[in-house]
Amino acid sequence: PLRERGAGSGFVVVANRLPVDLEKLPDGSSRWKRSPGGLVTALEPVLRSNRGAWVGWAGVPDVDVDPIVEDGLELHPVPLSAQEVADYYEGFSNATLWPLYHDVIVRPVYNRTWWSAYVQVNRRFAEETAKVAAEGATVWVQDYQLQLVPKMLRMLRPDLTIGFFLHIPFPPVELFMQMPWRTEIVEGLLGADLIGFHLPGGAQNFLYLARRLAGQPTSRGTVGVRSKMGVVQVGFRTVRVGAFPISIDSAGLDEHSRRRSVRERAARIRAELGSPKNILLGVDRLDYTKGIDIRLNALEELLAEGRVDPTETVMVQLATPSRERVESYIQMRGDIERQVGRINGEFARVGYPVVHYLHRPIAREELISFFVAADVMLVTPLRDGMNLVAKEYVACHSGLNGTLVLSEFTGAAAELRQSYLCNPHDLDSVKDAIVAALTDDRETRRRRMRSLRRQVLAHDVDRWARAFLDALAQGQVAGKALMAD
Ligand code: ADP
Ligand code: F6P
Repeated sequence: PLRERGAGSGFVVVANRLPVDLEKLPDGSSRWKRSPGGLVTALEPVLRSNRGAWVGWAGVPDVDVDPIVEDGLELHPVPLSAQEVADYYEGFSNATLWPLYHDVIVRPVYNRTWWSAYVQVNRRFAEETAKVAAEGATVWVQDYQLQLVPKMLRMLRPDLTIGFFLHIPFPPVELFMQMPWRTEIVEGLLGADLIGFHLPGGAQNFLYLARRLAGQPTSRGTVGVRSKMGVVQVGFRTVRVGAFPISIDSAGLDEHSRRRSVRERAARIRAELGSPKNILLGVDRLDYTKGIDIRLNALEELLAEGRVDPTETVMVQLATPSRERVESYIQMRGDIERQVGRINGEFARVGYPVVHYLHRPIAREELISFFVAADVMLVTPLRDGMNLVAKEYVACHSGLNGTLVLSEFTGAAAELRQSYLCNPHDLDSVKDAIVAALTDDRETRRRRMRSLRRQVLAHDVDRWARAFLDALAQGQVAGKALMAD
């Protein structure tokens, strides 16, 4: 009823953010720039090759911009007021759900006003999507900010095929049970035809909660990776639940990292850093889940113990500003900046800092040059759904000359078994992994990198999207056959 037959898009992605943010410049004008985070890195290439529509927020409060078409991709901005940004985005999404789903590293705040805003904004996303989607379209809802959209959208548009993918970890049942609105969230997700997680463990946790909180019968067998999906029976509807580890445009990045301009820039970066023997690199949104403090602690102790020589080792930490008005982020930024100051105060020489720290987003080509230049990549989150940075580093090392130190608490660790794995809760384990990455013989390091590259190049983001969308389409065919029986 909302649209004429034949109008609208056949494939719609719905995410909190559009792939580009509107940036307001000091002279009053504005321009679009790439949005932060792994979701956009992963989905942008998928959508560009599928031609569809993207529904999302433009990243700034109180602006109502018209839809734009960019390279065949329709962008439909959903406006948020300043109050909604505070309550729905900074509040419920990033001070309640984010810490709860990341093992309560920071204590989640449960606030009823924030919850009301979350419901209201989810409804706005559902209504906008209902207007944009063509009859019978496939809609793919993304991430923790929009967990109520599948149910709301199904009520508005029962003709749609709805998929949902969670880009962050789905927590252990004991932690999820803290959530005052736990039943509403599980029922919101069950509006989808297919619910995807990175890992089988997340899918398994969700199946248990669908039985316990929503009272729906579910399958009991174990869920596999891209196979053996779980099933929840919601009345006549069958909801499938699966594990689909996300990835990157591996071949594109591999090709880009081989370009002469990148190689030359990587060499210049090393020279600008004082031509050290070892470059350690960290690349993250400035987020407490990423364990930036842990890698700095590890480095500080290794320097103090003389296991790492400050005259031949440099660490570079590139940190994109993130969620800068949320209290826990303000505090963490202060802590990290003090730590960087302390390490340099103790171990640097004039003109030769041991830790270089940049608090700003880095342009793509420059970032790739840093990946190429780095001898050791430090990825040490306390919890991370996947961590695309780990995969990006691997894709940039066709010469097999880099090493990856990787936390066991990332989704990527399930696939990148030949990295230097460490437990971020055990500082000795992190220190030992760094030392091994620095000192193992060349052949061992090359063998490990070769194996990592095989995994990352074979499992790229296209394969992830295809696995999810094929499973979503197959579910529809199976469902229709059942109804016809
Ligand atoms: P998250 O989604 O939690 O931010 P991921 O590691 O999955 O974490 O994805 C982060 C994405 O953002 C990657 O594509 C990475 O290259 C990019 N990124 C991270 N830090 C920076 C930075 N300082 N400058 C530019 N891009 C960055
Ligand atoms: O899944 C990671 C994620 O939270 C995305 O949903 C999000 O867009 C990205 O990181 C960046 O965070 P934010 O949108 O809050 O800046």
